Amino acid sequence: MNRQIKVYIGDVKRFVGTLFFNALGNRESSGLEYSSEWIESNKSFEIDPALPLKYGRVFRSNKEGRSVFHGAIADSEPDGWARQVILRANGKYRKEMKERGISFDDSLLNSLDFLLAVDDFSRVGALRFQDENGVFQRGGKGKRTAPPLIELDSLLRATRAVETDTETAADLEYLRGRGTSLGGLRPKCTVIDQDGSLSIGKFPSVHDSYSVTKGEVLALRIAAAAGIQVAEARIVESEGTPVALIKRFDRGLHGERIPYLSAATLLGIEDSHQIHTYTEIVDALKRYSADYRADVEELWRRIALTILITNVDDHMRNHGFLHVEKNQWRLSPAFDINPFPDKRRVLKTWIAESIGDAANIQSLMEMAPYFGIESRRACEILSIVEGAVARWRQIGKEIGMKTSELNAFETAFEHEERHSARRIIQLING
Ligand SMILES: Nc1ncnc2c1ncn2[C@@H]1O[C@H](COP(=O)(O)OP(=O)(O)OP(=O)(O)O)[C@@H](O)[C@H]1O
Ligand SMILES: [Mg+2]
Repeated sequence: MNRQIKVYIGDVKRFVGTLFFNALGNRESSGLEYSSEWIESNKSFEIDPALPLKYGRVFRSNKEGRSVFHGAIADSEPDGWARQVILRANGKYRKEMKERGISFDDSLLNSLDFLLAVDDFSRVGALRFQDENGVFQRGGKGKRTAPPLIELDSLLRATRAVETDTETAADLEYLRGRGTSLGGLRPKCTVIDQDGSLSIGKFPSVHDSYSVTKGEVLALRIAAAAGIQVAEARIVESEGTPVALIKRFDRGLHGERIPYLSAATLLGIEDSHQIHTYTEIVDALKRYSADYRADVEELWRRIALTILITNVDDHMRNHGFLHVEKNQWRLSPAFDINPFPDKRRVLKTWIAESIGDAANIQSLMEMAPYFGIESRRACEILSIVEGAVARWRQIGKEIGMKTSELNAFETAFEHEERHSARRIIQLING
């Protein structure tokens, strides 16, 4: 199979180039060729550091543990949760066709089918894909694929049905587009908040043993109190279930699309199983940040928070960047940060190779010079972060958490690294 997909960017749909896709059984490859229009435009930039602004096709094959698409494209591919919804919908469709004796294209879904199944309106970042029939994907039957907040109950019910293996074809059809636009493993959907802004609804999973959604909003609020730029978030109840409603940061004030890259893509990380370090992000910031000083300090602050709230899922797709201009990027607001009361306090992204996976405040202080932060300033930042984390119960109450719900998070917030932070602060402040 040979396919050619047109790639556009932004609301005005600038023609970026052509995505070529080949599939022969499990063997897949893709290629991206910039258009001359894009290369010559004064608005152009490399959509991915692996794709320099040059004429000609840049190929890529599929290998174990990585996408067949270049990172910038793969960043908007469906992931764990969305793939599950798309696969189930396809399974149901095939079964129905067989039962009714209707002939249909029996081939299994390939990587391009998944990529194109994402709804154009809510796809992450600014890239847009147009198929050979001139269609930009609009998932779901007819209606809006980013429904208003009022539909949250229906979205939750359909999501629950998928999680408990009781979904109907109608549930899956409803979730198509609405529930499949974003990456990540957890159940989620796209909604338009009351103020008209594109948002993500993150649902509790039936497998959760504590309120993960409240924990995430709590973590984001603590982060904000610690001076970190964060995605705006709040809890909304849907039929008594707390849903984390998180504003999309890849859309501007008037809904305009902002190019997004995960840290994995900006750093050229191919294999998601390999170990990487924050010092690598520092190096990437030196090269790509539109405001290196601010970003590198923000990154250090985020690591301090990550350690103090036991956020152990800090992988390279949970850090991202928004495009400013001409290959210059800024750290995106922080997202997907969660206190994990039931996990060993280690980092997925190591502070530095010599430190290993230890989530250790002392080691972070020792690495401050690598971030260009002098020890007084590091101490100042640490005090602000520690001060915000110390108020975790109060902040939790402000978002409506009950004492019993807060107690479930105790071990994530009260631990040795907090003591260590306070000792360091005291020592430096004399
Ligand atoms: N506020 C936001 N604005 C724009 N894009 C976002 C936002 N939050 C998340 N994303 C994008 O959606 C993806 C999935 O979101 P998120 O990481 O919160 O989900 P998750 O299921 O908890 O992920 P994981 O598999 O890491 O647990 C992110 O990797 C990022 O690309
Ligand atoms: Mg994530």
